[in-house]
Amino acid sequence: MAKRFYVTTPLYYVNDLPHIGHTYSTILADILARYYRMQGYETHFLTGTDEHGQKVQQAAEKAGISPEKHCDEYSQRFRSFWDELRLTYDDFIRTTEQRHVEVVQKILMDLYKKGDIYKDRYEGLYSVAEERFITQKEYEEGNFREVKEIHEENYFFRMSAYQRDLMTYIESHKEFIQPENRRNEILGFLQQPLNDLCISRPKNRLSWGIELPFDPNYVTYVWFDALINYISAIGYKTNETLFKKWWPAVHIIGKDILTTHCVYWPTMLMAAGVSLPKTIFAHGWWMSEGQKMSKSLGNFIDIQTIREHISRTGHDGFRYFLAKEGPLFGDSDFSKERFYQTYNTDLANDFGNLVNRILTLIEKYFDGKIPTPGKLSDTEKLLKQEGETLCKNAFSLLDRFELNRLVFELLTYIRSINRYLEQKAPWKLAKTNLEETGTILYAALASLQLAAQLFEPVLPEKMHQLLTMLHGSQELTRTLTWDALKPGTLIPKTKALFPRIDLTFLEETSNKKQVKPQPNTNQQNEQEAIKYIPLEDFKKVQLKTARVLSAENVEGTKNLLKLTVEVGPETHTLVAGIAKYYNPDELVGKTIVIVANLQPVTIRGIQSMGMLLAAQDKDTLRLVTIDGDLPKSGVIIQ
Ligand code: MSP
Repeated sequence: MAKRFYVTTPLYYVNDLPHIGHTYSTILADILARYYRMQGYETHFLTGTDEHGQKVQQAAEKAGISPEKHCDEYSQRFRSFWDELRLTYDDFIRTTEQRHVEVVQKILMDLYKKGDIYKDRYEGLYSVAEERFITQKEYEEGNFREVKEIHEENYFFRMSAYQRDLMTYIESHKEFIQPENRRNEILGFLQQPLNDLCISRPKNRLSWGIELPFDPNYVTYVWFDALINYISAIGYKTNETLFKKWWPAVHIIGKDILTTHCVYWPTMLMAAGVSLPKTIFAHGWWMSEGQKMSKSLGNFIDIQTIREHISRTGHDGFRYFLAKEGPLFGDSDFSKERFYQTYNTDLANDFGNLVNRILTLIEKYFDGKIPTPGKLSDTEKLLKQEGETLCKNAFSLLDRFELNRLVFELLTYIRSINRYLEQKAPWKLAKTNLEETGTILYAALASLQLAAQLFEPVLPEKMHQLLTMLHGSQELTRTLTWDALKPGTLIPKTKALFPRIDLTFLEETSNKKQVKPQPNTNQQNEQEAIKYIPLEDFKKVQLKTARVLSAENVEGTKNLLKLTVEVGPETHTLVAGIAKYYNPDELVGKTIVIVANLQPVTIRGIQSMGMLLAAQDKDTLRLVTIDGDLPKSGVIIQ
């Protein structure tokens, strides 16, 4: 089968300017695209803007300009920001483009003729803010704004007819919705009967949309229109060869648009007779300084803030943090302190110092030329092997979207190279044994160049710079082999790759402007008032027994342990702050109690699936364990 990779981002609404949420989806897609290109895949990376609908119409009216002008301006802001971030998208689609409109209308016509779109009278509630019809139950839950009652005739897509097929498909295709918690969310949602989907809006209420080809009094519902971009952009119905070349796609989305992508979109495709996307991967959300981003708190990580960070750390420093700490499986927090500390610790100290150390010694003892290695000792062979294993594992981690983990593994390798140098101390040896010093420096450099190749999709600029230096300004053919460097090559001198950042400015800014944690009065009152919780709330928490299979310290931390536990037929990884209270060895074999259905979080690059229970009183902490033996692990506690 041809090696092809088609990746998409959501299409961003043009009623907002790019912020870290949009930027994260797009950088994630960029990193994936680069990794696949690196493996020799022909790659197509699509992004763009979602331009129809009421919110856009209103924003344009408010600004006193035409919707077209408004869309041109905002769409361009997204596009130029992606260019500024040097993202390697291949195509940028706008839903107002003719190539898209044409395909939406063709699909609408096909489904209409087929009887999958029908007209009906709708009487019920409508949320203007969310631009969708809502049920009485949703209204009572209170999550929808600007709700009004609407009585009108509309067109409906027979979504309910595809519910069963969709469920069967999801159940038999594990890779279709990822990560697993999102897949379960959708399977849970599909336990209720699906309604048909209202896919039209009367023009007298909303005119800014794609006209229905079978009724000029209506425009298309914005979601039905926008989702189609993923196939209109690659020639569905207009260039079948191109379409066959790229489809199916890997869709990167955020968790808030899970239902539209995992229910509306696949049923639309089923109705149109198109195969389903390969994977829909829904990441979590970025919080900012511990709280949800909101205009009133002033903690939005917007274009200006991102630019400011990049002006200090470079583009790669920003990408690095997103890749290492980003909300792949749960939510993540963007705190300035953590951002700059991560840069200084990982990139300036670990990575930067390694490069600096090796190059200074090569300059001093080998006239700046890569030394010729002698016979490799077992230590060098081990280092080489660690690099080669990493190459093998890297891509399977990516196939599972474990980018956090990959970055962590790469950093661990950088640290191994540093440790190897500490152990061999070539700066001392150089005075007595130049030949062995040469071998050591060659081994360190060979390992570094392998790590640099694997890091390139995350840190494209700096790694390109480093690899070009190591190859004497020759364009390197990426081989992913350890001994790719040519002895004798002159390494040109350069400035520090990741200069250390003086963090005193953080204290100054935090004194001036602090995002104050606003007490959520509702929540506080609730906590005070609610002494008891209903049983249904407690039932949501899944407590299970788990047997500790192994435990180890999390590198670079004093208080974290990584536990591998057996929970019935499954194995979970947990990260827990208990290193001060337990040695890893004393935990193995214990049967502990965990919260098994907690949203996964990534801690230090490790995905932690669940939380263990412990009792803590000041300086003492003891784990909750089971009194006596149970025949197996994974037993539900009730
Ligand atoms: N236009 C729709 C998508 C249509 S796709 C055919 C849309 N646009 S959006 O601009 O509102 O959001 C785009 C993406 O940004 C969503 O995936 C959303 O999850 C993501 N984010 C918005 N805020 C976010 C965070 N704070 N953190 C991470 N991503 C979040 O929805």
